[in-house]
Amino acid sequence: MCVEGDECGSAAAPAEEVASGPRSGEQVYNASCAACHGTGAAGAPKVGDAASWAPHIAKGEATMLK
Ligand code: HEC
Repeated sequence: MCVEGDECGSAAAPAEEVASGPRSGEQVYNASCAACHGTGAAGAPKVGDAASWAPHIAKGEATMLK
C-alpha cells in the first residue's frame, strides 16, 4: 500500500487527479443523490416532483437540512 506523501516510485503515481476544493451543489447532487432521487429508486422522492416531496417538506426545514 502506498499513501500520498510516501516515496513509492513512478508506478504508484495516481492515474487521475481528483479535484479538490469546494464542489457545487449540482456536483454533489449528481455524485451522491441522483441515483435515488433522479429515478425514485428505493421509494425516494423524485427531484422536481413536488407531490412526492410534500410530506417531507411538511416535517420542516430543520429536518430537510439534517
Ligand atoms: C440510496 C438511495 C438514496 C440516496 C443515494 C439519497 N437518498 Fe435522499 N432519500 C431516499 C429515500 C428512500 C428517502 C425517503 C425516506 C422516507 O420516506 O423516510 C429519502 C429522503 C430524503 C430527504 C427527506 C428526508 C426526510 O426526513 O423527510 C431528503 C432531504 C433527502 N433524501 C436528501 C438527499 C440528499 C441531499 C442526498 C445526496 C447527498 C440523498 N438524499 C441521497 C433515498 C436516497
